[in-house]
Amino acid sequence: MIQFLLNRELRTEQRLDPNVTVLNYLREHVGKPGTKEGCASGDCGACTVVVGELDGDSIRYRTLNSCLTFVSSLHGKQLISVEDLKHDGKLHSVQQAMVDCHGSQCGFCTPGFVMSLFALQKNSDGHDEAPHRKAKAQEALAGNLCRCTGYRPILDAAEQSCCQAKPDQFDARQAETIAQLRAIAPKDIAELNSGDKRCLVPLTVADLADLYSSHPEARLLAGGTDLALEVTQFQRALPVMIYVGNVAEMKRIERFDERLEIGAATALTDCAEALSAEYPDFGELLHRFASLQIRNQGTLGGNIGNASPIGDTPPLLIALGARIVLRKGENTRTLALEDYFLDYRVTARQEGEFIEKIIVPRASSRQAFRAYKVSKRLDDDISAVCAAFNLRIEDGVVTDARVAFGGMAAIPKRAAACEQALLGATWSQTVIERACAALAEDFTPLSDFRASKEYRLLTAQNLLRKYFLELQAPEVETRVTAYV
Ligand code: FES
Ligand code: FES
Repeated sequence: MIQFLLNRELRTEQRLDPNVTVLNYLREHVGKPGTKEGCASGDCGACTVVVGELDGDSIRYRTLNSCLTFVSSLHGKQLISVEDLKHDGKLHSVQQAMVDCHGSQCGFCTPGFVMSLFALQKNSDGHDEAPHRKAKAQEALAGNLCRCTGYRPILDAAEQSCCQAKPDQFDARQAETIAQLRAIAPKDIAELNSGDKRCLVPLTVADLADLYSSHPEARLLAGGTDLALEVTQFQRALPVMIYVGNVAEMKRIERFDERLEIGAATALTDCAEALSAEYPDFGELLHRFASLQIRNQGTLGGNIGNASPIGDTPPLLIALGARIVLRKGENTRTLALEDYFLDYRVTARQEGEFIEKIIVPRASSRQAFRAYKVSKRLDDDISAVCAAFNLRIEDGVVTDARVAFGGMAAIPKRAAACEQALLGATWSQTVIERACAALAEDFTPLSDFRASKEYRLLTAQNLLRKYFLELQAPEVETRVTAYV
């Protein structure tokens, strides 16, 4: 069975279909229809809820898209939906801010906006300077779409609710909620089982390895931002899942002198903090990876594991020389990430094997790492082309070159001919043009609705030129914000 708090109420579920999303659970199983379905694919934010999780002696509140979250991932946590905000007959201060600023427009988007504002307020100390406050408000709301385009009053409400935050019922009850969460903290493998469908919820990596060896047919569920689409968009049922989000060892980031070791189930929001400290461009790219809700859910291991040719982190990780640790039972092997991707959605992962962690070399002052994402929109969009360059230039000569792209081939891939053109050459415009020409040997991109093949190749070449210019004039701050 699994246990979680529905706001304050303890819920215990045992014989529930593990394919039920939190959105449908709220609306159809517990009669809370305030949370809305807009797209059922993680794009609109209408279904935003907040999940509270123990973080030492406090509770960390984060937004999630409930349309992409399966109920099993609530095990040991607190679920807060829009119905829970009003208290003692009064609106919550974020709801009142929406009223005061005329931000409440239609009934589909407003509940999601309110929940994003609630999480923003819970994660603000009220002392941010105005520009920083605005940036945080925009980040918090980037995953909530309003079709009538009335964003300004909602952004005003965000500012008001952060500036005028007052202790609320959640603060008043914090000690009680922490005690409730501690009482239901998972202690052993849990299971949700509806007879013909089940989801297993291990707590340790050893248990996960055992379970996956015994059920190699199971689908591994981490953030679910990709896997849940099979259920919500393709109407398939997943008979066996193993939820890895409660495996503590796989949610850790360990720092060593020369490397970071990032557990595969670490949320992208947490990865961003660690990676941006080493590589600011990586942090910038993660900022544009997707909405905050998706970054709170999606994991680094998931972005690698689903092997999409347009996943945003693999080109960067490949350019950095990252490796992954694959585990099967008690055995582990370490593989260069570039060797993991074999063909379109085909990887070197064997049956029963899973990605346990990702090893990322720490930054050195001798390397010049830059990353670029080109997409139609700034926020919440999928890349047409994603490029990462990681060169070492000593005394004007390129002594090491790692160049990788997403969106240019069936897999995220190094540009071998381009690297060859750069390696050992004098760092100059002439060499860059030679390397640009070599990119045409490396890639034969496809045309699709995101970009034509000609556009993709020319963009890849132009990004290399841009990299060159930026290294020549490092004060030019134009990276990562390119659009198609
Ligand atoms: Fe649109 Fe969930 S319904 S993001
Ligand atoms: Fe729903 Fe604008 S608030 S369309």
